[in-house]
Amino acid sequence: IPVDLFDLVIFGATGDLAMRKILPALYRRDLAGQLPDGARIIGAARSDFTDASWRDELRRDLADCVPASLQEAGALDRFLNRLGYVPIDVRGEDGWRDLAARIRPKAIQAYYFSVGPDLFGDLARNLHAHGMNSETCRIVVEKPFGHDLSSARALNATLAAHFHEHQVYRIDHYLGKETVQNLMAVRFGNMLFEPLWNAQYVDHIQITVAETVGVAGRGEYYDKSGAVRDMVQNHMMQLLCLIAMEPPYAFEPDAVRDEKLKVIRALDPVAPDDIVRGQYGAANGFASYLEDVGNPDSHTESFIAIKAHVSSWRWKGTPFYLRTGKRLRARTSEIVVTFKDPPHSIFGPQEGQKSNVLAIRLQPNEGIKLKVTIKEPGPGGMRLIEVPLDMSFAEALGEGARDIADAYERLIMDVIRGNQTLFMRGDEVEAAWAWTDPIIAAWDAREDRPQLYDPGSSGPEDALMLMHRDGRRWREVK
Ligand code: BG6
Repeated sequence: IPVDLFDLVIFGATGDLAMRKILPALYRRDLAGQLPDGARIIGAARSDFTDASWRDELRRDLADCVPASLQEAGALDRFLNRLGYVPIDVRGEDGWRDLAARIRPKAIQAYYFSVGPDLFGDLARNLHAHGMNSETCRIVVEKPFGHDLSSARALNATLAAHFHEHQVYRIDHYLGKETVQNLMAVRFGNMLFEPLWNAQYVDHIQITVAETVGVAGRGEYYDKSGAVRDMVQNHMMQLLCLIAMEPPYAFEPDAVRDEKLKVIRALDPVAPDDIVRGQYGAANGFASYLEDVGNPDSHTESFIAIKAHVSSWRWKGTPFYLRTGKRLRARTSEIVVTFKDPPHSIFGPQEGQKSNVLAIRLQPNEGIKLKVTIKEPGPGGMRLIEVPLDMSFAEALGEGARDIADAYERLIMDVIRGNQTLFMRGDEVEAAWAWTDPIIAAWDAREDRPQLYDPGSSGPEDALMLMHRDGRRWREVK
């Protein structure tokens, strides 16, 4: 179903994010027939392109960013014809009048701030000064949304000076992932799980986002952020919220975001012993983190594991173990819910009886696996074994699964539709920083370096100990 007529302005249109994510996502939605006739995309950046020269540039670049199977000459022409370009000085005056003249009052107006947060204030002010911040326009901002609580507050205040909260779309691309939304469907669309989804029945929960890539090429940004700011404060906390939250009264923006906020506010401060930081060394043919970022003294972590507690009626006593890192053995994002043992084994001591485990695989090979105990087949008596009930979405959904839209496609269309459900509200972002700030401060106060781990491993030794000392084990990264 096509969305309504829109003018989407991308500030920072010549940057990496626009080229790799935003424009290919829009092209794919156009290919799928979702962009209405007359919908327009206007690039605005410092470089001196004209409409025609930018289209030429994009014709070449999109060929690299869009899979060959999706490159259709007719569709590409149609898409390029939607594009315009205005050279602009974000901090100064140049270009703003031209841009304002191109915006159609009758179309939905969306402004994508695909620039560093230091420019948000200038953009907001200039949009206002040139009469472009109408009551119905929307602005889209990317992470990093601040560097800590006080900078996030300052950014929120800057945006609030010119826009209402219902106009601000803060992107966390994890919320646009099909399988992440599926967490809510699995929990609240079935009767099977929710009655057991609490501290009485759940022993612990693991959330793993493991990556094989290093930080080469983004060293300057990453070295100032580290895994806590880059992944935990946003993506990991969003996953934790979706797993831990109470059922919202409806799948509506503030209903969902209110419940997520309650989870973040219920998180206990993390004890220093419940945090492990790691940094990848050089091994197995890979350069070390220090070489990748070009800073031989860096104490920044490329891996972190945290044991977190949600102090709520539902979760008191169930630990949440989070870990994320670069240059690990495999690229995998997974949430694992381990249930408690049955209160009594009527079969006597049994080696094969294990606790039920529900593993929700977010990427790649999306699917759900539930481990259950059954009788070992055969005449050998009542011996128990563990078997998986395994559902791969690709197998279960066939063609449908292959058509999973990229997170950006979903999120940008939601901006045009005016649906903020999958975007972070200002208070949520601030609450997330309020939880991660002390973690970062505690670490900054120490002299020691993060523990080294080998590229291709599953992280530092101490991360394994974080669970072993509680008599538990991480699921293997594979
Ligand atoms: C980004 C981080 O937000 O998410 C990157 O800045 C990280 O460091 C990326 O690699 C992971 O996203 P995905 O979609 O590949 O899991």
